[in-house]
Amino acid sequence: MAKVTVVGAGNVGATCANVLAHGNLVNEVVLLDIQGDLARGKALDTWQQAPIEDYSTHVIGTEDYAATANSDIVVITAGIPRKPGMSRDDLISTNAKIVRSVTQSILKYSPNPILIVVSNPLDVMTYAAYKTSGLPASRVFGMAGILDTARFRAFLASALDVSPRDIQAMLLGGHGDTMVPLPRFTTVSGIPVTDLIDSSELDAIIERTKVGGGELVKLMGTSAWYAPGAAAAQMVTTILKNERRIFPVCAWLEGQYGLQDIFLGVPVKLGKNGIEQTIELKLNEGEMALLEASAGHVRDVMKVYDNMTF
Ligand code: NAI
Ligand code: 2OP
Repeated sequence: MAKVTVVGAGNVGATCANVLAHGNLVNEVVLLDIQGDLARGKALDTWQQAPIEDYSTHVIGTEDYAATANSDIVVITAGIPRKPGMSRDDLISTNAKIVRSVTQSILKYSPNPILIVVSNPLDVMTYAAYKTSGLPASRVFGMAGILDTARFRAFLASALDVSPRDIQAMLLGGHGDTMVPLPRFTTVSGIPVTDLIDSSELDAIIERTKVGGGELVKLMGTSAWYAPGAAAAQMVTTILKNERRIFPVCAWLEGQYGLQDIFLGVPVKLGKNGIEQTIELKLNEGEMALLEASAGHVRDVMKVYDNMTF
């Protein structure tokens, strides 16, 4: 049976482990945090939820990387979240060190895991894990697009007064305010969304989606966790079940979309080997210009990482 580890037992990591436990797909999920008691406490709370919610998955809380040995999938949520007034990029100096050391520690005990990065700034932290691990790009990628499209879908569901389940959406680019929601690839049970909503309302929803993370930081004083944790768990589940679902994922580009050597959100097929295929949409000029602008922003933050000394 596959082994899953979640690093970081804070808001997002504990939610991810909890959602995975509810999925009942694995016997154990290891939840690791430098605050070992926090990990142990949240693991115990999740185990005490099992009789009520009817699952058998045991979450093991620890600070000891030996407990993560031979993990098949590792979700990295360790790091600080942003506070009001901060951008995701402001987190780089702290989180780059954390993501590098977590990746090194994981690799000591698990030779060939799939790494799913969640820590921000997402695209560049995924780059940090990729560079540090030496793993193939198909096994290192980041969670952002499932969350960002979920926000887009939720806002559209409210505006159209329909179930969010029936809304399919696609989105490209970095996990930041330059992300590129794609109305041309968004449908409601197969009906183009543009047939159902007027363009000014759609534009307002796109703008709200782009700053969707910031809206929650303003409300709560820290960033979101229910949807982010569930989004990371959905990626794990898809890989565990080799479902070959197509999601927007932060993936390494080697020429796709005319972009080279950069992590950016694009549609990929996820299966048991991680990224099984990267899908290249036929973008129009306007969409391509927005994607290039988003890539430019991510490259600026990559440069900050490349110039850091560790
Ligand atoms: P949090 O503060 O609730 O939890 C972070 C946890 O990481 C803490 O428990 C802390 O003890 C732990 N940690 C710090 N250094 C560590 C280390 N070296 N090893 C192991 N654990 C360590 O933060 P939250 O809300 O869970 O967010 C975590 C990260 O995820 C943040 O960087 C946040 O910006 C990011 N995030 C990314 C999203 C995305 O869409 N990619 C969505 C939401 C959050
Ligand atoms: C979010 O989008 C802060 O990246 C985090 O909620």
